[in-house]
Amino acid sequence: MNKTDPETLPALFRPFSLRDLEFRNRVVVTPMCQYISDDGHIADWHLDHHGRFALGGVGGAFVESTGVTRDGRITPGCLGIYLDSHVEGLKKITATYHRHDIPVGIQLSHSGRKGSAAVPLEGAQPLVDSGDERAWQIVAPSPIAMTDGWPVPHELTGDEIRALIDEFAAAARRAVAAGFDFIEVHGAHGYLVNSFFSPLANQRDDQWGGDLERRMAFPLAVTEAVRAEMHTAMPLFFRTSVVDGLDGGVTVDDTVALARALKAEGVDIIDCSSGGIIGASGRADERPSPGYLVPYAKAVRERADIATMAVGLIVDGAQANAVVEDGSADLAAMGRQLLYDPNFVLHAAEALDHPDPWSLIPESYGFFLSRRKMG
Ligand SMILES: Cc1cc2nc3c(=O)[nH]c(=O)nc-3n(C[C@H](O)[C@H](O)[C@H](O)COP(=O)(O)O)c2cc1C
Repeated sequence: MNKTDPETLPALFRPFSLRDLEFRNRVVVTPMCQYISDDGHIADWHLDHHGRFALGGVGGAFVESTGVTRDGRITPGCLGIYLDSHVEGLKKITATYHRHDIPVGIQLSHSGRKGSAAVPLEGAQPLVDSGDERAWQIVAPSPIAMTDGWPVPHELTGDEIRALIDEFAAAARRAVAAGFDFIEVHGAHGYLVNSFFSPLANQRDDQWGGDLERRMAFPLAVTEAVRAEMHTAMPLFFRTSVVDGLDGGVTVDDTVALARALKAEGVDIIDCSSGGIIGASGRADERPSPGYLVPYAKAVRERADIATMAVGLIVDGAQANAVVEDGSADLAAMGRQLLYDPNFVLHAAEALDHPDPWSLIPESYGFFLSRRKMG
């Protein structure tokens, strides 16, 4: 453990608290689907996958987008939390992180009109197109296909909407039982919660759609239901696509209004992504470059007066440190860079002249690695 005064450390290594939970540094494993589940249950792979990050000394980690219903998964390979039998496997993931005193959360999700898709390695296209017997009826606020070639979703009725809110609550209950330290509502990338918020997917004229306030109603109702199942000490994250990046879509102003309302509902931190209302996540009109989404995290943090987590091609220690140091975000979420380098935290600490990089990883490795260059 690090005995140095935290205030003297590079910003990336200063602890951060949300409610009663402390992240020992600011590097967080972003949610990453593994597409390897059987009826939503974890595979041994998940333990290998998360074990690499736990050994690398991250400050916190997320388990991937996890379907609150079977039909709320994106693909048949996606993780689920719609059966009590899912809890046992998820407990093994939380234990993997807890053995190293690392807090871990889960992203609760419903795929909406982007569900019933083939896994990415098999093309990510709608399963109905290939006559796949695992295809299911997709649902959405309005009967608008995601894009050309995608099926028209079933328009949810008021009763169906209320039932789905209950499913989010049941999922949160199971997440607490599985030992998660925090929860994230997946409100980004065009999936169900995001599709209610975006005027490009929600053209209802009832209490669940219309003006900005009514487009916020479903994200807020889901949040309220999830928060009600959580201990007060547990932080709640909400991932949103800060902008759709398309004409007539969600703007930064809309997201600032949503973030303020979410804060009032008990959300502690906004995880700031973008795009995905049509096609893959990320703005359709923007070529990703290192830190390309960080300005959104900064805007939401400043204008909605709420903590933020930045994501999107954060790829080196100095860059990650600057995200925290300059007040753009409180946490730096990383995906592909951590897949590439699960020892990112150690490498960033060395690059940033941390006084004791070896204290950041388990002692069984740190003791020997600190002597590696001495022969
Ligand atoms: C393999 C993989 C799986 C992903 N799965 C999810 C997911 O389950 N939920 C989510 O919100 N985003 C998901 N994403 C997006 C990431 O969370 C992240 O926002 C994106 O990769 C940008 O961060 P990066 O440049 O550090 O990888 C995934 C990305 C990758 C590479």
